Amino acid sequence: MGVFCGKHMKIISVESLTKILKHHGFDNFMMDLMRSLKRDYGRWQSFTKMPRPAMHVPSGVIELMPICDNQLYYTFKYVNCHPKNTLIGQQTVVATGQLSRIDTGYPLMFSEMTLLTALRTAATAALATDLMARKNTHVLTIIGTGAQSEFQVQGLQLVRDITEVRYFDTDSKAMDKFEKNMSNKHLKLVRCKDVQEATIGADIITVCTACKAHVDVIKNEWVKEGVHINALGGDTVGKTELELGILSRSRIVVEYFDQAFIEGEIQRLSKKQAKKMAHGELHEVVRGLKKGRENDEEITLFDSIGIALEDYSALRLTYELAEKYNIGEERNITPVLKDPKDLISTLNLNMIY
Ligand SMILES: NC(=O)c1ccc[n+]([C@@H]2O[C@H](COP(=O)([O-])OP(=O)(O)OC[C@H]3O[C@@H](n4cnc5c(N)ncnc54)[C@H](O)[C@@H]3O)[C@@H](O)[C@H]2O)c1
Repeated sequence: MGVFCGKHMKIISVESLTKILKHHGFDNFMMDLMRSLKRDYGRWQSFTKMPRPAMHVPSGVIELMPICDNQLYYTFKYVNCHPKNTLIGQQTVVATGQLSRIDTGYPLMFSEMTLLTALRTAATAALATDLMARKNTHVLTIIGTGAQSEFQVQGLQLVRDITEVRYFDTDSKAMDKFEKNMSNKHLKLVRCKDVQEATIGADIITVCTACKAHVDVIKNEWVKEGVHINALGGDTVGKTELELGILSRSRIVVEYFDQAFIEGEIQRLSKKQAKKMAHGELHEVVRGLKKGRENDEEITLFDSIGIALEDYSALRLTYELAEKYNIGEERNITPVLKDPKDLISTLNLNMIY
């Protein structure tokens, strides 16, 4: 139990996480994260979980995502979604997170989670795609080429032989940025004039736009047989991206029904309809209890909202790698005391009086 010996808390800044990725390698990190997700989805029953509490503010939403397993760790993430932030030069989604030991409740690590969210969302979509998409898929459509987009492409490249990426964003500058970042990834990049053109010939459609409204970004008539859809941007109350008709044509897998019913594409259905139309939860597919796809003609839909279990997997992996490579600052975030009842001694020691 070496991991529990330290009295200090590890602080993982953006710079520290970048160092971890450099040491471990981006693809290795993603592959390990997918393995961690499989492990944790595979032991679904051993987690205490709840749909995340969300606070809706005029310009967006702020959420807390707690989870606890029955062996080692409790984690939580603080995350927002403010779609208009980019207009003032700030990101739509930023996040921080904490990992604590459950036996004493002491925090072990506080981490940046903006990058980690993009990594874990890409790893989760890749895991779901691997379980749900046809094997023979080469053309990927990306709608919304913002902060998440490059991570999504690189995640999917690890599970399918993607040769062509077709993409569209309402902001042409976001497409310029995407092209620049993806130029050396051995892909045929096809910039499209609208969403319809981008969906032509798609094997996989990943939609990750940010708009707090019910928007039919993807129209039913553009979705052909056999396509797999990762719908990532519909992830809070009143925020969806698919025309409703797509849902009834698809085999729908959600992460966690109780939360997806509030926040996912299925929020637009009655609870009875949603229960009937959702084929299952991702852990059931991971554990082989349900099939991700029945045949090559079926349309499959991963209706993703992002859940605390995925952040748990990401924080745990980050902690293990930070320990392995000795990365991250150590700080006394909790007082270090000789006598645990003598808290006031901390002030005396630091000569407050
Ligand atoms: N499911 C999850 O686990 C998960 C995790 C992270 C982010 N998200 C969601 O993914 C979405 C994207 O996040 P981001 O960090 O990339 O945001 P971002 O603001 O950086 O990018 C969103 C992009 O979508 C574009 N866009 C908006 N409406 C569009 C439309 N109708 N058609 C085409 N493009 C459109 C914007 O111009 C922007 O470039 C957000 O809604 C966020 O909440 C989901």
